[in-house]
Amino acid sequence: MNKIDKAREILKKYNQNHIKNIDEKLADQILKIDFEQLQELYEQANSKTLESDIDNIEPVKAINPNKISKEEIENYIKIGEENVRAGKFAVAIMAGGQGTRLGHNGPKGTFTLTLNLEQKSLFQIIIEKLQTAQKQYNIKLPCYIMTSPENNDDTVKFFEKNNYFGYQKEYIKFFEQGEQPLLDKDGKVLIGEDGLIKLASDGNGGIFCSMAKNGIIDDMKKKSIEWVFIGSVDNLLVKYVDTLLLGIAISQNVKIATKTIIKNSPYEKVGVLCKRNGKVKVIEYTEIPKKMRFAVDECGEMIYGESHIMCNLFNIQAIEKASTKELQYHIAVKKSKYMNEDGEIIEPTEENCYKFEKFIFDSFCLFDKIAILRGKREEDFAPIKNESGPDSPETAKKMYEEYIKRNV
Ligand code: UTP
Repeated sequence: MNKIDKAREILKKYNQNHIKNIDEKLADQILKIDFEQLQELYEQANSKTLESDIDNIEPVKAINPNKISKEEIENYIKIGEENVRAGKFAVAIMAGGQGTRLGHNGPKGTFTLTLNLEQKSLFQIIIEKLQTAQKQYNIKLPCYIMTSPENNDDTVKFFEKNNYFGYQKEYIKFFEQGEQPLLDKDGKVLIGEDGLIKLASDGNGGIFCSMAKNGIIDDMKKKSIEWVFIGSVDNLLVKYVDTLLLGIAISQNVKIATKTIIKNSPYEKVGVLCKRNGKVKVIEYTEIPKKMRFAVDECGEMIYGESHIMCNLFNIQAIEKASTKELQYHIAVKKSKYMNEDGEIIEPTEENCYKFEKFIFDSFCLFDKIAILRGKREEDFAPIKNESGPDSPETAKKMYEEYIKRNV
C-alpha cells in the first residue's frame, strides 16, 4: 500500500474524514502522528473538568531567606559558587513557546524592549547575564536553548545575525521540542493555511525527552555537568546563575530545587505549589479549584500562595530520569485560525480548539523531596506574557529598571 493510501486508512480509522486531499507531504505528517494517543487526549478533554482534583492535598513549606541567618545564606551561596566555578553547572532556556498572548511576530526571545535607553531582545538580556557569570566565576558556561520546529530557524538566524551577542558560539546549543496537533471541539485535527495538520509545541514539559532525543543529556555528561538551571525566556528578572538556590539544593541533597514567590492575589495567573500524597506538585492556574484558590489561614494569608515562576534547578540525574517518563498532558482551550473543508480560512472569535501540553513541573513528583526557596517578586519575577496590562512589556520594563536602580 502506498503512503497516501495508508494515511487515508488512518484518517478513516480515527474518524478524521474531513481531510479529503492528501498529498505526499500531508501523508508523511499523518504517518508520524500518534492518533491513538490523540483520541485518548480528546476523550479526556471532553469527559473531565479541567479542574485538578484536590484529594490528599496539603500546603508546602518553602525556605524563606528572611527567616534564616546571614551566615547560613552566605554558606549556601559559597557551596553553589564552588559548583559553578568547578564547571559543573549549565543553563537551559525554554524558548519553544508560541507566545500567543504577546502576539509578537517571531520567537518570543527576539522580542525587543528599550531598557534604560538601550534596545535589547529577551535573548540578549539572558545572554548578558550569562556573560557576567562567566567573568565572575572565570568559567565557560554551556547554554542550551529549547526551540520548537516552528521557531527554530528564526531563533538560530537571530543568534547568527547578532553574532551570538558576543557569547562563544560553541557553548550555545539549540534543540527542538516536540509538537502535538490541535483538535477542534469535535475531535477533528485542525488544518492550517498550508493544507497541513496544524501542530503546536507540546508544552515546556517536553524538554526532558527532547534533551535526550537531541543528544543534549549526553553533551552535558561529556562536559561533567551536574546541575542545570532551566528557566523561561520571558522573565526579565530570572537569575540564570542562582547560586543560593544551587547551594540549597546541594546542601539538602535533593535532585530538584525550585524558586517561588507569593501570589499577589487569588487570581494571579501562576501555578501554585502543594503536596499531594506527600510529593510536591504544581497546580496550574487554569486548573486550580475554587476551594484551593481562596483558602486562607487564620491570619488571612493564602494557604496555597507559593507560586511556580519557572525557576527550576535540576540535577542531571533528575533530567535523565524525567526523560524516560511520559509526563501527563494538560488540556488548554485556545483560539486558532484554520482552513475549513471548503478551503476557506476561518479566524475564530472564540476558543475553538484543544491544545495538549506537558508541564515541566510535573517532573517534581518523580522525587520524594525537592527544595523550595521563596524568592521576592521585585527581584525574581517580571514576566512578559500579555501585550498590555498586567505581565506586559510595560510592567516588566518598570520592574527591571527599578531592580537595576536598586542594585547599582
Ligand atoms: P508559557 O506557558 O507562558 O507560554 O511559557 P508562552 O509560549 O510564552 O505564551 P502563550 O501561553 O502562548 O501566550 C512559559 C515558558 O515556557 C516556554 C516559553 O517559551 C516560556 O519561556 N515554553 C512554553 C516552551 O519552551 N515550550 C512550550 O511548548 C511552551
